Amino acid sequence: MSHIAYVNVRYLPHRDAVVHVEDRGYQFADGCYEVVAIKDGILVDEGLHLRRLHRSLDALEIVPPMSDAALKTVMGEVIRRNAVGEGFIYLQVTRGTAARDFAFPKAARPSLVMTARRRTLSDPRLLAEGVSVITIPDIRWARPDIKSIALLPNALGKEQAKRVGAYEAWQVDRDGNITEGTSSNAWIINADGDVITHPADHAILDGVTRQGLIHAMTEAGLKVIERPFSIAEAKAAREAMLTSSTNFVLSVVRIDDTVIGNGQPGHLAEKLGALYAAYAAAGGQDRS
Ligand code: PDD
Repeated sequence: MSHIAYVNVRYLPHRDAVVHVEDRGYQFADGCYEVVAIKDGILVDEGLHLRRLHRSLDALEIVPPMSDAALKTVMGEVIRRNAVGEGFIYLQVTRGTAARDFAFPKAARPSLVMTARRRTLSDPRLLAEGVSVITIPDIRWARPDIKSIALLPNALGKEQAKRVGAYEAWQVDRDGNITEGTSSNAWIINADGDVITHPADHAILDGVTRQGLIHAMTEAGLKVIERPFSIAEAKAAREAMLTSSTNFVLSVVRIDDTVIGNGQPGHLAEKLGALYAAYAAAGGQDRS
């Protein structure tokens, strides 16, 4: 649990960290967010996260709450005050507080909140055993590329996975293709050894971990194919994996009732996990 939270210019004890009942994030999910991994006290790919935050803010026409330099200072302070060496920071911007009305308020100032939590980003048990996923219909709106706080379909999907003992739910579009997980990107490695992930179009969130792994793979001379893949192709894959800021790279060893490969984390997925871990330990592209 985070001890100190940042709420609109103030650092507050977590229990006192509240926003107004008429905050538009609360009433309309009118906001966006970022989750940034912290490794050895350093934010992994802070620059890519800020770039994506701006992309979301622009798409929603929300004014940035402060400059990037100021945001970086606050993030550093939240990490420091919570003494997080490994974990993540949660940053949320909403359009602000105003009397409830669907149209944008004229005078509202954006709300900014941040929390930080300790967490082991590469859980040894999950790395050793891999995880299972279920498949569910992708019932989200048409712009999951915007990192909006409207996450009800994602929460329902994750709960569905949890109830059957699975770690994640992979969402499937109307064409039968897997778009992404509820809070992670989806990847497969086919029998030819091709590493495949959905293209970063409007149907998925372009994960910063996804971007980082593609960067690290390209640097290492490894190819990534960005194209949609079907449930059938995923179930026939040699290996599968997921990526996110809170998990880095995790092998997927089961999709619904289908065991992937021999049911153990695959060699290439493990290699890519190690490649990403080294990339993240170096801070990501910001510092490489
Ligand atoms: N979720 N796809 C979705 C729908 C996500 O919510 C996330 C991240 C990702 C992976 O993005 P990244 O690599 O930038 O973390 C893909 C975060 C971790 C969350 O909501 O907690």
